[in-house]
Amino acid sequence: MTLNFQAPRGLTGRLVPPPDKSITHRALIFSGMAGGRSRVHNPLDTGDCVSTRGCLEALGVEVTETCGGGGEKTLEIGGRGLWGFQEAENVLDAGNSGTTARLLAGLLAGQKVLTVLNGDSSLRSRPMLRVVGPLRGMGAEIHGRNEGRNLPLVFAPTSGGLLPIDYLLEVSSAQVKSALMIAALRARGEVRLGGAIDSRDHTERLFDYLELPLRREGSRLIVEPVGSVPSFELTVPGDISSAAFFIAGALVGGKELLVENCGLNPSRLGFLDVLKRMGASIEVEEQDRSGGEPVGSIRVLPGPLYGVEIGPESIPSCIDEVPLLALLGAFAQGITSIRGAGELRHKESDRLAAVARLFPSLGGRIDLSEDGFTVEGPQSLNSGRIDPKGDHRIAMAAASLSPGIRDGVTVQGFETAEVSFPDFVGMFRSLGGEVS
Ligand code: S3P
Repeated sequence: MTLNFQAPRGLTGRLVPPPDKSITHRALIFSGMAGGRSRVHNPLDTGDCVSTRGCLEALGVEVTETCGGGGEKTLEIGGRGLWGFQEAENVLDAGNSGTTARLLAGLLAGQKVLTVLNGDSSLRSRPMLRVVGPLRGMGAEIHGRNEGRNLPLVFAPTSGGLLPIDYLLEVSSAQVKSALMIAALRARGEVRLGGAIDSRDHTERLFDYLELPLRREGSRLIVEPVGSVPSFELTVPGDISSAAFFIAGALVGGKELLVENCGLNPSRLGFLDVLKRMGASIEVEEQDRSGGEPVGSIRVLPGPLYGVEIGPESIPSCIDEVPLLALLGAFAQGITSIRGAGELRHKESDRLAAVARLFPSLGGRIDLSEDGFTVEGPQSLNSGRIDPKGDHRIAMAAASLSPGIRDGVTVQGFETAEVSFPDFVGMFRSLGGEVS
């Protein structure tokens, strides 16, 4: 599906982002491991999270869907307990979702059943050893393509549970950290995690919300094994990473935007912090808490942007927004440089290369390095045609620039946005944009 996005009068108004993808994955997985029936309100019910749900169902987890009078969705999930998963009839399909594959690796390691886990061609090329390695260190028997570097992975049945481990993460990855925390619940002793654990902390917050045994000692996270996970009820807030496209769109179009019911977890707010450093006027107001997560509103006011340096310490809290920040650099006065973002080469596509390809397609210039970019602005970008090569965030990032580009931006294969943002087009229109 090739779509042209234009917003000659800018994007403005009020927006409630789609439910948070990271929190939905975790809510599904923890309710699958729980001892009773859990209720997850407002789940993200497309793309990646459907993959997680499908894998859990294949393992015997019962999921039923209800819709309230106001159209709000609830999933009721019958958990199988930590050890009660049934052997899946077929290969589990994680689709395009790295979070599904890596978090489920933590759940499937050292179980009593045999499981084979696969995904689409993008996911099959993504690195899995970062999670397979430490899980093997915990005694799990995992086989996989290229010695476990890639999917498909085979989780052999094991008896006797997993071993305790003291492990230093080399890459800052919430997926790896979460997989090890999930496996740790079934270990025979404490699992201690250190090193690069500064990634998004949704799993830690869910542990706290469910009163699962998690301690912080200095720079270590320590998880103790449990006999069971309690069932729970949780409402998923809006996804800041989805809101980010429209925040960028409002800024490049010079209009005001109000984002409501949005997750405000500080480990996800790096994008807003960088925008503030770029001179943007952004007001964040926490109004509620849900499942241990702060929730509230973000008001974006129009104003000029200035180039900034974005160093490695800023990357974990804005990892999914780095492409947008690079693109916003073209609308800012001066130089925007991004370093320490090499992990983007291992996302749904090589996002550093994808952004570097996007600039010349719109008549812009960017210098790409091994782990980031330099962009000198302001640049006057032209309307152009983008091929996001099946990467949802690249597709939406390109579309979000259209308020700042005469005649807008044309994006090929825009259906890929479904992975995380089912109604991007509807929301773009409701904020004053035109899509044809
Ligand atoms: C996610 C973690 C991040 C992020 C991804 C979702 C999660 O990946 O890019 O979109 O839900 O844990 P890494 O763990 O690879 O950094």
